[in-house]
Amino acid sequence: MTDALHATPLADQAEYAQAVRVAVDAAAAYYGAGDSALDDDAYDRLVRGIEAYETAHPEHVLPGSPTGKVAGGAVTGDVPHTVPMLSLDNVFSAEDLAGWAAGLERRLGRPVEMWSVEPKLDGLAVSARYHGGRLVQLVTRGDGVAGEDVSHAIGTVEGLPEALPEPVTVEIRGEVLMTAAQFEEACAKRTAHDGTTFANPRSAAAGTLRAKDRPYRCEMTFFGYGALPLPPDDDGDLAGRLRELPHSRIMDLVADLGVQTTGATPVGVIAVATVEQVQARVEEIAAVRAELPFGIDGIVVKADLAADQEQAGFSSRAPRWAIAYKLPAVEKVTKLVGVEWNVGRTGVIAPRAVLEPVRLDGSVVTYATLHNPADITRRGLMLGDHVTVYKAGDVIPRVEAPVVHLRTGAERMITFPDACPRCGGDIDTTQQRWRCARGRACHAVASVSYAVGRDQLDIEGLGETRIVQLVDAGLIADFADLFTLTREQILGLDRMGETSTDNLLAAIERAKAKPLNKVFCALGVRGTGRSMSRRIARHFGSMDAIRAADAEALQAVDGIGPEKAAAVVEELAELAPLIDRLVAAGVTMTEPGATAPGATGAGGATETDAGQPAVDLPLTGMAVVVTGAMTGPLEALSRTEMNELIERAGGKASSSVSARTSLLVAGEKAGSKRSKAESLGVRIATPEEFAATVHDFI
Ligand code: IVH
Repeated sequence: MTDALHATPLADQAEYAQAVRVAVDAAAAYYGAGDSALDDDAYDRLVRGIEAYETAHPEHVLPGSPTGKVAGGAVTGDVPHTVPMLSLDNVFSAEDLAGWAAGLERRLGRPVEMWSVEPKLDGLAVSARYHGGRLVQLVTRGDGVAGEDVSHAIGTVEGLPEALPEPVTVEIRGEVLMTAAQFEEACAKRTAHDGTTFANPRSAAAGTLRAKDRPYRCEMTFFGYGALPLPPDDDGDLAGRLRELPHSRIMDLVADLGVQTTGATPVGVIAVATVEQVQARVEEIAAVRAELPFGIDGIVVKADLAADQEQAGFSSRAPRWAIAYKLPAVEKVTKLVGVEWNVGRTGVIAPRAVLEPVRLDGSVVTYATLHNPADITRRGLMLGDHVTVYKAGDVIPRVEAPVVHLRTGAERMITFPDACPRCGGDIDTTQQRWRCARGRACHAVASVSYAVGRDQLDIEGLGETRIVQLVDAGLIADFADLFTLTREQILGLDRMGETSTDNLLAAIERAKAKPLNKVFCALGVRGTGRSMSRRIARHFGSMDAIRAADAEALQAVDGIGPEKAAAVVEELAELAPLIDRLVAAGVTMTEPGATAPGATGAGGATETDAGQPAVDLPLTGMAVVVTGAMTGPLEALSRTEMNELIERAGGKASSSVSARTSLLVAGEKAGSKRSKAESLGVRIATPEEFAATVHDFI
């Protein structure tokens, strides 16, 4: 593809002036609140159209034109950058990339010896200034010449330590973003606070980085992609190395100082020798994009060697030695054709947008989250609106905002239900999230199906059809009722013979012996999935201890902040009658191997701050990743079971390899995680070796 195919052609001077206005507004919205109504593709096309027109009609160029300016000229700040923070030029295809590389090599008069390839992170550029090993200032990119001081965010950005192990003076440049998990957490906090939500992880990070007095705190993540000497008292020795080392080695040096770099992302920074290898690496990264725990909007290709970079130099806008290979936008405009109201297993009535299908990040999106009724009103959404929709990586597709200037007048109001769409009963509208007044009982089939699922009570023979029969017959209203079912009651159901009845009763009996973490997970308390339920069960040891915990005590569990803690306390109070019936039925209410907080006595473990027993378990303090097919004693274990095993043995299970990974268990057909671990020097074990280490816990 060539640039011309991407550009929006402009017919005359009036269209050119209009295009400049739209682009300037969009850039201001994007770099300001982070909520541009134009998606990236449309913006790029527009700017290229403007450039083409300006080349043909240099006499018409408007002073406000966004071309040739960093950030479209949208932002200014008051902290001057030591060296301008530039932008990157873009390519969109293998052909474009080869053309750019050939151009660079022509300029240098020799082949580029080494290229480095890394993800283009979709966040905000910041400069982190370290003096004598202490992080003293954080500055946004702003207009590239001067940025905004956001030092108040120091301490809330993972990967950007406040102190380095050595008293060095250096400026680290990189991207601040929210991972999918941090974004979900931030949205939950904001919703609990004022019922609104963030449009996408990028604008959440932009807003959070600037916010000075929010009553809640959201975490962000930093990945560095460059380092510079920091005048006036720059570190002579380090400055010399930064001027001489290849980019990929500088990333290692920065990582050694304890600052997270693009090298610590699951795709890392890889140095290769030829443009064909660069293209192959680009394709590998693009293929795993949807699985990354954060959004990327492209891949950055850099001439790796300092000498090549120095000779290539810079244009007014971007370095000539680097290029962004853009990937398709993860934010697009489509049409909102309907709104469905679904009742979840906790009785929450959630609106869901029905969209004209649109391709985003490797999949076709037809439905997207619409949060809650108040949020629909606040954003002024209407049926038939063009809306921006975002989906990247793990993030659930979401409607961001209506594109108001595309309205035709044919749009209609969205009607809100006045009765529960499932049971026709009353709706509790006192909270931002609407809920059926019958709560969990409204959608008993969904909550029971969840409770008996494989990762919770694992009751075989209890599929959805059976549960519907039991609910319709009035035999169960929740999963606690399962434990008091009689043989006659089950036999009385349609198509239920003696053998299947006995099998089902035996499976229900077996479920009583499940450890507390499974029973707790079965309750379906919001925000407590499998892994969180394991942490809670291990931390408290018994259901009594969990029920006795107040919000403060719950926050001692890793990953529970004030909002989640309060929600858990509230939901547990609501579930009290159900839990009482589980206790009465003889369901297990303790976690094997866990010691309740504060408990002492024979062999009693003391608790660390993170709520982990401070005993010497084989994986204590270790972050473990599993990849490939398991063999030997671990052959039959699912990924969930492997993760449970890791946590039982004191470790933390994680899904991606980074510099912080302590061990990779690599089975047969292990792919990119294995090569990533090898390049980072992470220890690798076979399933058999790992099984030997944790054999007491299998
Ligand atoms: S290198 C002189 N590497 O993309 C500019 N930039 O569109 C060198 N970005 O302003 C930038 N990931 O904020 C570089 N791995 C990466 C990046 C990256 C994201 C951002 C950066 C830059 C913008 C340009």
